Amino acid sequence: MTQTPAFPRTRLRRTRTSAWSRAMVRENILTPADLIWPLFISDGDEVEEPIASLPGVSRWSVDLIVERAKEARDLGIPCVALFPNTPTDKRSDDGAEALNVDNLMCRATKAIKDALGDDIGVLTDVALDPYTAHGQDGLIDADGYVENDRTLDMLTKQALNQANAGADIIAPSDMMDGRVGAIRDTLELANHHNVQIMSYAAKYASAFYGPFRDAVGSSGTLKGDKKSYQMDAANSDEAMREIALDIAEGADSVMVKPGLAYLDIIYRAKTEFNVPVFAYQVSGEYALVAAGAAAGIGDRDALMMEKLIAFKRAGCSGILTYFAADAARLLHG
Ligand code: PBG
Repeated sequence: MTQTPAFPRTRLRRTRTSAWSRAMVRENILTPADLIWPLFISDGDEVEEPIASLPGVSRWSVDLIVERAKEARDLGIPCVALFPNTPTDKRSDDGAEALNVDNLMCRATKAIKDALGDDIGVLTDVALDPYTAHGQDGLIDADGYVENDRTLDMLTKQALNQANAGADIIAPSDMMDGRVGAIRDTLELANHHNVQIMSYAAKYASAFYGPFRDAVGSSGTLKGDKKSYQMDAANSDEAMREIALDIAEGADSVMVKPGLAYLDIIYRAKTEFNVPVFAYQVSGEYALVAAGAAAGIGDRDALMMEKLIAFKRAGCSGILTYFAADAARLLHG
């Protein structure tokens, strides 16, 4: 007859007792190399423009963007993601400024690459919203519908323009059908064989993008919503189809966006496809932490780190986050 033990033999608290032991059994780890830092570019020289709806985040002119990229390199952050705040007089219905070889995006990319070479990666966003007068990511017809195939033609030219300026990773965020394949073909034909594509494969029509639209100056101009091309928050099988297509079309890595509300999508993506998966912790997610911390709901650093490790636990290779420099500084102690 077995005796009922008077105590639990398995005590999961045992390994939690000391810091050294917790460190020893820790399953996931966040390092600065997991972080990609999104940076907003503004026109002018020596300009820093704080963004009211993103406390702690600024737009920087090209000369100062180079300083931010050096800071990232020094912190061990492997890549920066660039987004331009195109001057209003350069926005048009067709977003032609996206093809200007001397636009903010190209100037910032060149300046970073000239200063830092291969010490840091530059990821450039492909979509027309920072360049269109109507704030949509593509070309619209008379009814305001974003036309897929006409937009593709612009996006391939935009991607080529960015690659010619020195971009290391092209990141299409527009959610048009067929764009990854069209961009890959264009890059190959132009001998940009090693320029990567990180596709925003599962990008949802989300309420969390508000502060970003302020940052790139499209919130005031945006007419309508983006639901005819960005995904419905209720869907997850559809996200797997998007990811499968983008991989088949030549994407090197895929992104899920926004981040924390879509951890199930990240987990499924990592489990179902053997590719690097990245999360974009978007502007609204960042701003909510900043606002929460300011309201005394929790400690900013603790909230930040808990959210970032969640992405690693879910299976991410890395995270695009406005916290990148702060988190890297904290990780360096
Ligand atoms: C647009 C784009 C958006 C973001 C990145 N690229 C916004 C949108 O789709 O309206 C959002 C990023 C963020 O909120 O931080 N092509």
